[in-house]
Amino acid sequence: MTEAIKKVCVIGAGVMGAGIAAQVANAGVPVLLLDIPAKQGDDRDAVAKGAVAKMLKTEPAPFMSKAAAKLVETGNIDDHLARVAECDWIVEAIVERLDIKQSLYAKLETLKRPGTAVSSNTSTIPLERLVEGRSEQFRHDFLITHFFNPPRYMRLVEIVRGADTDPGTAGKVEDFVDRFMGKRIVRAKDTPGFIANRIGTYWLAVAVNAAIDQGLTVEEADQIGGRPMGVPKTGIFALIDLVGVDLMPLLAKSLSDTLPQGDPYFATVRPLPLVDRMIAEGFTGRKGKGGFYRLDKSGAGGAD
Ligand code: NAI
Repeated sequence: MTEAIKKVCVIGAGVMGAGIAAQVANAGVPVLLLDIPAKQGDDRDAVAKGAVAKMLKTEPAPFMSKAAAKLVETGNIDDHLARVAECDWIVEAIVERLDIKQSLYAKLETLKRPGTAVSSNTSTIPLERLVEGRSEQFRHDFLITHFFNPPRYMRLVEIVRGADTDPGTAGKVEDFVDRFMGKRIVRAKDTPGFIANRIGTYWLAVAVNAAIDQGLTVEEADQIGGRPMGVPKTGIFALIDLVGVDLMPLLAKSLSDTLPQGDPYFATVRPLPLVDRMIAEGFTGRKGKGGFYRLDKSGAGGAD
């Protein structure tokens, strides 16, 4: 079955999309990596190209080999989206916003070959919401493949199949993720946040609130909430810097929009104006100007 996936398209060249594309290329499979057209400069593919350059520079080891980088073609969704017709699996890893994801799928529906799998890397949005308004064929071809950050090192992938997902199409993707990308799969039900983020988003938000309430410094909170609580390496704030500070309110909004009214846990999470101010000023974590940690001090975080 896996022979059928000979070329992959990854849409969204941010923290996750670039990492997933690197893993596909490391497995020896060609990838088309698309992002939005660059807003400045002459090169409209500069966003995706910049992402590839970052994958080659990660410390302590590059996320992608130079040989693998030759397998990655870059482009932008305005000029190159029709090229999804060349691909056997399309991975969507764009911003965690239902409306933006849905509008991309509406375009993909008309451009991709029937039977080509489309999967979303969404952290929280139920599959049934993502495919609202899509054709029967698109719903057959659609599933969620939730990779964890960083895709280079995190071995787990949550897979969600919808009521209409074709088992053969999903099986082909699962087989590729398992055998070619070396991941371990867990099948999750189609619920908000699936398994890991239903727990994880709540836990992160509560921990940040508790640290602020108790007047802890970021370092103190991470010492308590790091290794002693089983968090890889350095703790909660370092993890948020790695994940992306800007993702936090998007995850919280997505969960509060999709969880049943009166959910006993998530209802207790209060908004964090500090996080909104950080995002507005570009402190989005490691991908931005730094986050809770300055960039030059954030050897912290990451995964074991
Ligand atoms: P990011 O903000 O690092 O990257 C998103 C990329 O998508 C950006 O480069 C942006 O320019 C691009 N983009 C936005 N709209 C687009 C469009 N219409 N077409 C093409 N590209 C577009 O986001 P990140 O963190 O990589 O998240 C991507 C997805 O993966 C989200 O659904 C998120 O919830 C999920 N996720 C994130 C994890 C993390 O630790 N950051 C972990 C697991 C899942």
